Amino acid sequence: AYPNVAPTPPMGWNNWSYYLCEVNEKVVLDNARALVRTGLADKGYDTVTVDDCWMAKQRGPDGELVPDPEKFPHGMAYVGRQLHQMGLKFGIYEDVGTLTCGKYPGSFGHFPQDAAQFARWKVDYLKADGCNVPTAPGRTKEETYHDLYRQQSRALEDTGRDITFSVSAPAYFQYAGDKVWHKVIRWSSKLGNLWRGGRDIAMEQQSPATKWSSIAYNFRYNAGLAGLQRPGRWNDPDFLLAGDSGLTRHEIQSQMSLWAVMAAPLISSTDLGELSPAAREVLGNEQVIAVDQDPLGVQGKVVGQGDGFTVLSKPLANGERAVALFNSGDTPRTLSTTAEAAGLPGAGAYRMRDLVTGRTRSSGGAIVAENVPPHATVLYRVGTN
Ligand code: GLA
Repeated sequence: AYPNVAPTPPMGWNNWSYYLCEVNEKVVLDNARALVRTGLADKGYDTVTVDDCWMAKQRGPDGELVPDPEKFPHGMAYVGRQLHQMGLKFGIYEDVGTLTCGKYPGSFGHFPQDAAQFARWKVDYLKADGCNVPTAPGRTKEETYHDLYRQQSRALEDTGRDITFSVSAPAYFQYAGDKVWHKVIRWSSKLGNLWRGGRDIAMEQQSPATKWSSIAYNFRYNAGLAGLQRPGRWNDPDFLLAGDSGLTRHEIQSQMSLWAVMAAPLISSTDLGELSPAAREVLGNEQVIAVDQDPLGVQGKVVGQGDGFTVLSKPLANGERAVALFNSGDTPRTLSTTAEAAGLPGAGAYRMRDLVTGRTRSSGGAIVAENVPPHATVLYRVGTN
């Protein structure tokens, strides 16, 4: 699992927030083909993950997981082969409890068996959720989760296959108090290549306002976790909603730019066959993707903050900084910081490139974004020429 996989934040697609349990072979392979056709796969979106509800409700005669025969008539090895033939990676969802969140068989008590099966199917990425975990006698909830995620991690390692491990544990300790929560986030960051925290990003049928507030919530939560990440280990604030989501262009761009400055996984969850030109441009912006995927692997830190705005700065491998100026308020405003506050050497001449408009300007040290619309983010790459 580590450090062979996920040297930069994972990228790809997952069906959940758009299709929920309406997942099947056609949905998965159609979206995979769309990743290739739109050019997004070439830009790094290479992992296609089948989320919950892919299984039959009962295990087979040998205790093995069985794909739902109506949803996946050719089985999961077939899905993996198709994805690999397209040059993509195969991700799958399971749960460390007795049942998944959708009440399908969990891996509890079956870790080695299920991991071996995933390896036979040539799975490259496992999202291990944490619903329906029975607390072990004499153990706390935190200890129980730790044991189970450790078992899951070992089982994956024992397969000998490089499988990216996505841990959902922190999401189940959000309200457990700081002390317990810190423990969970620490061991999650040792076991997982990425780990979910915050809340679920809102789903397709929810209102645009709910979607936006779920993005803003996960942004605030995740921005506080800078420092835990490094190459192979990433904070995961959940799916990108760019697509047919009812969000404004500014909002989908903001999410993309903020996720990039936080070195977050870029996992789209939408119908890629219906991607609007705006969404395609946002997801496909190579300058923004390069900030996310920068080989230094550092998550940007908050360097300025106040009522309705946040400024973050991310060091990049070539010595430049990515600086994001986010207007979270409801009226346009001018946002600013300085090169020094952003971590660049104090005095000098700088060049700032707006990674969305492509416009470049020079600066003597002030980093200013004028009239930033509500919910918009300006993302600059700042360096000394
Ligand atoms: C949880 C996860 C979601 C999704 C569902 C599936 O809510 O956080 O991302 O996997 O379970 O049931």
